[in-house]
Parts: sequence; C-alpha cells; structure tokens
Amino acid sequence: MSRAIYPGSFDPVTFGHIDIIKRSSAMFDEVIVGVLNNSAKNPLFSTEERMEMLMETTKEFDNVKIISFGGLLIDYMKDNDISVIVRGLRAVTDFEYELQIAQSNRKVSKETIDTVFLTTSIEYAYLSSSIVREYASYGTDVSDFVPAFVAQRLENRFR
Ligand code: PNS
Repeated sequence: MSRAIYPGSFDPVTFGHIDIIKRSSAMFDEVIVGVLNNSAKNPLFSTEERMEMLMETTKEFDNVKIISFGGLLIDYMKDNDISVIVRGLRAVTDFEYELQIAQSNRKVSKETIDTVFLTTSIEYAYLSSSIVREYASYGTDVSDFVPAFVAQRLENRFR
C-alpha cells in the first residue's frame, strides 16, 4: 500500500491545502495529513481546532486521515512506517526553503525518506494561511480563500 504524509501547520486550512490533499489522495492509497503540534509557534487555532477543520474539509476523501505530531517529522514517519512526504510548491520563493527541508530530511533519515512536490494550482499560487489570518484580523471576508465555515471561525476568533 502506498502511503504519504502531508505535513503542515494548517493554521487554518486553505483552498490551497485542500487542492494538494485532493490531488495527493488520487496518487496514494492513503494520505495522512499531519498537523504540527507547535505550541511554541503560538498558532491562532489549537491543534485540535486545526485538526477538526481539516476533518470537516476532507470528509469526502475516504483515504485521507488527519493526525497531529510533535517533534521531528521523520521520527513520526519512522514510527508509523511512512516514507513519502508531500509538499505543495507555490512559487520560486518556496523553493529554497522546501529544498533545504527535503534534503535535510533525506539526509537525517539515512536516505529512507523522499519528498514529492506538487505544484499548487495557479488560482491558489498566492495563498497562504498567514495571508488569510492577516486579512481576517482586519475583518475582511476571506471566503474566497478558505471554506465558508473556516471563514466563520476566523471571524469569530477576531471579533
Ligand atoms: O505549513 P508549514 O508551517 O510550512 O509546515 C512546516 C512543517 C510542519 C512541514 C515543518 O516545520 C516540519 O516538518 N516540522 C516538524 C519538525 C521537523 O521535522 N523539523 C525538521 C525540518 S525543518
């Protein structure tokens, strides 16, 4: 069975993430969406809230599972027998950072882990959770960027 993990902060999930989840779920038997349990980064939404929003958004995909992880991604992968990471690439600005993480993960995992990059669909190329949070914090409607119920959660959070 082919399995891959799509890790991220997902604070909150955007249409860009959903696009990558949908496309990777067609490529692998199982896709595990790994929410980084990053209390040190002071996320807007708790790990449980981010997982819950992802579960709601991906419920139509039978082979997608939502989990959270702390510590190193490659340790979670080793413990759970996963050897492929999926990441989305939006623009050239993502490339350097993503290349660095992919190469170091490969090195530290002693070449047992690979990263597969999917180029984000062009309509979401500019989209990021931080941009969504920024607009939402000023009371701007972000329903072009995130599912309606996520936009509502953001509105409530910043009210
Ligand atoms: O959505 P993000 O914040 O760009 O996702 C980054 C993520 C979660 C993929 C990355 O920070 C990560 O894997 N963190 C877990 C800790 C880890 O494994 N660090 C080593 C590589 S930086």
